[in-house]
Amino acid sequence: MSKAPMRVAVTGAAGQIGYSLLFRIASGEMLGKDQPVILQLLDLPQAQKAVKGVMMELEDCAFPLLAGMVATDDPNVAFKDADVCLLVGARPRGPGMERADLLTANGAIFTVQGKAIAENAKEDVRVLVVGNPCNTNAYIARAAAIKVGRTNPNNYHGMLRLDHNRALSQLAAKSGRAVSSLKKMVVWGNHSPSMYADYRFCESNGDSVKALVNDHAWNNDVFLPTVGKRGAAIIEARGLSSAASAANAAIDHVRDWVLGSDDWVTMGVPSDGSYGIPEGIVFGFPCESKNGQFKIIQGLEIDEYSRGKINATLKELEDERAAVADMLK
Ligand code: NAD
Ligand code: LMR
Repeated sequence: MSKAPMRVAVTGAAGQIGYSLLFRIASGEMLGKDQPVILQLLDLPQAQKAVKGVMMELEDCAFPLLAGMVATDDPNVAFKDADVCLLVGARPRGPGMERADLLTANGAIFTVQGKAIAENAKEDVRVLVVGNPCNTNAYIARAAAIKVGRTNPNNYHGMLRLDHNRALSQLAAKSGRAVSSLKKMVVWGNHSPSMYADYRFCESNGDSVKALVNDHAWNNDVFLPTVGKRGAAIIEARGLSSAASAANAAIDHVRDWVLGSDDWVTMGVPSDGSYGIPEGIVFGFPCESKNGQFKIIQGLEIDEYSRGKINATLKELEDERAAVADMLK
């Protein structure tokens, strides 16, 4: 017997990430090749015509798993009974901006959407915030949802998977090992240049990759800045922010959350106090996911260099939290 469809709400459906994301969700890459989906597409009133165009293209793919589509500019309609919400819709930064510069422009979107999710979605809805600055936007959406109650406050995530994937590619190039062989990558903290891509625990076919690479200067002066500033490098080269790789990371995050993963995955999740990160801050942690539930990997040694990096990215998130405090009153 075929499974009941899952409802996937995607905001910013007319945008560039939306265009890379929706077709892959409808083809089963996110929730499984046996899982029908209904797409619930939210965008601004002026983007509804473009959303209709994307829906025409989705129809023209004749995806066997696409069980329905809704287009709307009303968050209450978009999030109705949603199992998964991908919050992509927000302004992207341009050249010379940091993601935190978007806080005021985009923060307000997430108070409205967090509330609408909590009022309308399934109680066990999984929410992934992609719109920047994604950690603090997820923090805002979660705080707004907590005021309503009903949904699981642990299920409001920010996307650090793009950083995790970027770190894997850079490390594969440096170590000469295949990306697929690299396990146990972590990116701690904020999706910003302060993030700490930490490969101290990485293994490749049983070998320690840190021992293989054995190059602190490369780590400090090449690897961390390359991963941390990759988004800006893409904006500089393309004139637009990353889209296909961001959509790919969103699919990876949700797929691993729902269907499980054998490897560690970096997820921006509300802290439970692990590793000294204050509760509720949405922070990139090493996670594992089994039976649809994620858990922060515990007990990793944090050396002095790493503690300095983790404290710096935490400080930035605490500053962002303070900057949005008024929005959450
Ligand atoms: P885009 O400008 O191409 O599309 C954004 C879409 O969102 C537009 O269609 C716009 O109309 C819509 N939108 C704006 N406000 C909305 C609202 N209140 N409700 C619903 N829809 C709304 O941008 P994009 O390139 O698709 O990027 C979207 C966001 O994702 C940006 O904030 C960008 O910085 C961020 N991003 C994050 C990551 C990450 O790793 N976390 C990676 C890439 C991009
Ligand atoms: C990225 O990392 O590519 C995105 O967050 C877009 C940006 O503004 O850098």
